[in-house]
Amino acid sequence: MSPSEAVFAIICCQNGADPAVKAEVARDGWRLAYSRRGFLSFKKDSPGNKAVGRYDHQRLPRGVFVRTASWSLGLAKGEDAAANAKQAFAIIEQSGVKLPFDGVHIWPRDRVPVGKFDFEPGIDEVAMVVGEMLAPSLKQRGIITDERFNRVAKRGDRILDIVLIEPSQWAIGWHPVPKLTGNHANSTLPTMWPGGVQPIKSPGEVISRAYFKAAEAIAWSGFEMRTGDMAIEVGASPGGACSLLLEMGLNVIGIDPAEMDEEVLEHQNFRHIRALAGEVPRTEYEGAKWLLVDSNVRPDQTLATVEQIVTHRDSTIEGMILTLKVGGIAHADRIDGWVRKVRSWGATDVAVRQLARSKIEVCLVARMRGR
Ligand SMILES: C[S@@+](CC[C@H](N)C(=O)[O-])C[C@H]1O[C@@H](n2cnc3c(N)ncnc32)[C@H](O)[C@@H]1O
Repeated sequence: MSPSEAVFAIICCQNGADPAVKAEVARDGWRLAYSRRGFLSFKKDSPGNKAVGRYDHQRLPRGVFVRTASWSLGLAKGEDAAANAKQAFAIIEQSGVKLPFDGVHIWPRDRVPVGKFDFEPGIDEVAMVVGEMLAPSLKQRGIITDERFNRVAKRGDRILDIVLIEPSQWAIGWHPVPKLTGNHANSTLPTMWPGGVQPIKSPGEVISRAYFKAAEAIAWSGFEMRTGDMAIEVGASPGGACSLLLEMGLNVIGIDPAEMDEEVLEHQNFRHIRALAGEVPRTEYEGAKWLLVDSNVRPDQTLATVEQIVTHRDSTIEGMILTLKVGGIAHADRIDGWVRKVRSWGATDVAVRQLARSKIEVCLVARMRGR
């Protein structure tokens, strides 16, 4: 047997972010094997040569635009769902992978870009039908221990992944949910969510889809936002994110020259500063612990504004969540420069991710040292 054997990984990303994924995982030696928009598979030589052992030598590909990454087991492509299921069982049982898995996640690739035709990523009706058909048999065959599919995984779980590239073409894989704890634990939170999309429902109709974007960003940041903390959002209108922060019990200042939604304006814990961030006196930021920025301006301008706020000697900001508009996927190579800039302010735990519910923009989170 050869001393090295190829391992295959499958990745889902936002439809349209594919070129950026290819570029970022190529840096770690992953070579493209197959791709459709929103779905890619890669291979890499591994020094191990046993079915399971070879995974131990490799880390799954990761990157800003990688929404999910799984070890690939194979592809099922049949006449109908029953034929696909039969192929899937054979692929899994013959792969030599350790069974059973702790659960199964089943989701479609993003067939259109997020926001186009109001498209939102996540579990769709076809995935539900496939899950209902497949999960009981997976349990019966001893492939999974829990027949409830698309449950949020627990730390340390091993999850079977089925990506519906098309309703009749399924990529089969699996991924481990890291056991990490500490500040970095939440950076692996999306590995617990089915298809890397946070399962979240709002208590009512949302003011803007920024509500969901902020929920995902806050969960992923790992920031310990508590009742009574003060948060400032720059670029707050119409108020989706502010309404979430208010629901969480925070005191919120929204900075934006545009109008805020009535419901947010009337909330007793909300104050609107109707101005551009650059015009707001420093004293308004005093006592604020969390800074969110979601203004529709160039990243350079966003970073210049944030630098003034967080590097001021009286700043009390402990964590920041910034939306940075990439301005076209071809400009994704600017991200490293933005990270260097934020680090130069003394920030730590800087992380960047294209949120599942973001459009062509990335979310940068960072903590300010010693605060
Ligand atoms: C994408 S919207 C924000 C959505 C909002 N976060 C929500 O949750 O509904 C972008 C906003 O940024 C505001 N904006 C642009 N430049 C700004 C600046 N320099 N200071 C404050 N707000 C700004 C715009 O007026 C616009 O309302």
